[in-house]
Amino acid sequence: MAEYTITVYETGKQFPCRDDQAVLKAMIHAQGPIRHGCCGGGCGVCRMKIVKGRYEAFKPMSASHVSEADRADGIILVCCIQPRGDLVVARV
Ligand code: FES
Repeated sequence: MAEYTITVYETGKQFPCRDDQAVLKAMIHAQGPIRHGCCGGGCGVCRMKIVKGRYEAFKPMSASHVSEADRADGIILVCCIQPRGDLVVARV
């Protein structure tokens, strides 16, 4: 198991996230209540942009919330990804 640092682009706030943990779960743990819904890739509420870093999607993301063009632009659902290195994420 590895642990990486997630940085929120707008605030500079950082928090740890394990490589077997959803980024959304780590974000909730570190920051208290944030915008989230189903935690399962279906509602689209947790859309963010990966500004920098590697990740792996461990759950399918609803195409109605994240299109192929979105993904090419770094837009993902943070409930569906785990880090594979330090990440910088931004609100969209
Ligand atoms: S919380 Fe619903 S898609 Fe992520």
